[in-house]
Amino acid sequence: MIGKSDWSMIDTYAKSWIKEAGSRIRDSFNKKLLIKTKSNKDDLVTNMDHETEQFLISKITETFPNHQILGEEGFGDEVKALDGVVWIIDPIDGTMNFVHQQRNFAISIGIYEDGVGQIGLIYDVVNDELYHAKKGQGAFFNDTALPALSDVSVDEAVIGINATWVLENKRIDSSVLTPLVKQVRGTRSYGSAALEMAYVAAGRLDAYITMRLAPWDFAAGMILIAEVGGVVTNIKGQPVGLLNESSVFASNGNLHKEVMKNYIEGFI
Ligand code: IPD
Ligand code: CA
Ligand code: CA
Repeated sequence: MIGKSDWSMIDTYAKSWIKEAGSRIRDSFNKKLLIKTKSNKDDLVTNMDHETEQFLISKITETFPNHQILGEEGFGDEVKALDGVVWIIDPIDGTMNFVHQQRNFAISIGIYEDGVGQIGLIYDVVNDELYHAKKGQGAFFNDTALPALSDVSVDEAVIGINATWVLENKRIDSSVLTPLVKQVRGTRSYGSAALEMAYVAAGRLDAYITMRLAPWDFAAGMILIAEVGGVVTNIKGQPVGLLNESSVFASNGNLHKEVMKNYIEGFI
């Protein structure tokens, strides 16, 4: 028993449920998908987003009736505070990829106790690859421990950034990030925030920057990145809250400092 909850037991259940949910999604590839739009024509949701969230919630509430659940599709609780154990779930992160490509999407589960990240799981369903972390015990890619992130200079960094943020937009002055995009070795955009954060934890991306995410997009990734010594803040360098939308800047510590100092502070 660690703290108030048995995290080893919760971890075992969470891993088996995320894998089972993934297997159900893989099976759905042979069936007809029902696709709808949400806030706009590009904001997609499918029956599998709904079914996956409902499946996970039924397992959690059956086994842990006192835990709260914050899920993207709204089948969980109306979570107003982070007291106790809170599961933060994105049943399919990268729904557009799921619909258009049948790959490059993930199930993301972050489990917090009194606001402190305890377990982070990001499951790349098609590749059967699980990124997982337990507070204080490191982060893993399947059975392989992920090493602590090493220093990278801006010149040699490969960063995850969505092209939207360097085109004219309503949120930020798009010219601010242009010098950074020019200076780094390369940029990538995979279309799944959870996978992009898992890639930062695994050292495949040196940073990930995005201007608007919801808690279910980053709740698991934050726990993974913390376990390999990385830093996750909003674009202003402030802590990211788990009950609101936020910008996110995730990277190793030295790159985070260098980018904040030379490209962001005083410009945004
Ligand atoms: C989206 C993906 C995408 C990010 C969007 C998210 P969804 O999540 O993570 O990469 O740019 O902001 O909303 O809607 O596919 O779960
Ligand atoms: Ca998402
Ligand atoms: Ca989603």
